[in-house]
Amino acid sequence: MVRVVSTHSFRGGTGKSNLTANIAVQLAQQGERVGVVDTDIQSPGIHVLFGLPGAQVRGALNDHLFGDSAISDIAHDVTPHGVGGAIHLVPSSVQPGEISRVLREGYDAQRLVQALRSLVDQLQLDTLLIDTHPGLGEETLLALVVSDTVLIVLRPDQQDYEGTGVVAEVTDGLGVPRRALVVNKVPATLDPDGVRSRVEEAYGAAVVGLLPHDDAMMSLASAGVFTLHHPNHPLTRAIAEVTGYLNGHGAR
Ligand SMILES: Nc1ncnc2c1ncn2[C@@H]1O[C@H](COP(=O)(O)OP(=O)(O)OP(=O)(O)O)[C@@H](O)[C@H]1O
Ligand SMILES: [Mg+2]
Repeated sequence: MVRVVSTHSFRGGTGKSNLTANIAVQLAQQGERVGVVDTDIQSPGIHVLFGLPGAQVRGALNDHLFGDSAISDIAHDVTPHGVGGAIHLVPSSVQPGEISRVLREGYDAQRLVQALRSLVDQLQLDTLLIDTHPGLGEETLLALVVSDTVLIVLRPDQQDYEGTGVVAEVTDGLGVPRRALVVNKVPATLDPDGVRSRVEEAYGAAVVGLLPHDDAMMSLASAGVFTLHHPNHPLTRAIAEVTGYLNGHGAR
């Protein structure tokens, strides 16, 4: 059975897309067949991490939502060289006209859900990772509904804390089977154990990753997937703990 995991945060810039891409690579390194869907229709970006510039995207989620393309035609094989499994990415378009069309006209929500199912079946995926837009837009709610796990990403920041409370309430209301917290960009000046216990107590959910703020990640600047560039780095190992958590929850 496939495992469906959404990565989400109430506020932007928490590190969702980087976390998603790194988990995808780590699962593929274990031999899994992984799908990554960018449901951040308003401000997509994860394609960049996989070395696929927006201008080179031939077929995006938008094309499928408006009925032009089959889901298999918009999945790009972005498996990195030397990685055992497979990664198939469904990017979202960065064409201004296509973004505004979705925002203006909306789309058939059922079509998105059906697209995710087809992707899983056609590509025989072990794991489907869904990268989301921050906040609580329609795509995000749909992503949460079809997920068996949501990874809520937050920084140790008062605004993020409040937003995380909102997301936690919504995921509960939607009946998402599992929600887990990932605290990212933790500065070296903070005591990690203190952060972990405060966050777990506040939201009643496990912190499955505590990722340091790291200059090497900032320097990479989304020009690649960190795990591939820094395989033995402490941040890579911290992300591997999140991947390990997902491994412990194989299937629906
Ligand atoms: N642990 C980290 N240490 C330092 N920088 C990080 C870390 N994690 C992510 N970043 C940086 O933070 C920025 C935002 O990351 P990313 O795009 O993954 O966030 P996001 O939550 O997907 O953003 P958005 O809400 O806009 O989709 C990037 O420049 C990335 O390199
Ligand atoms: Mg993002």
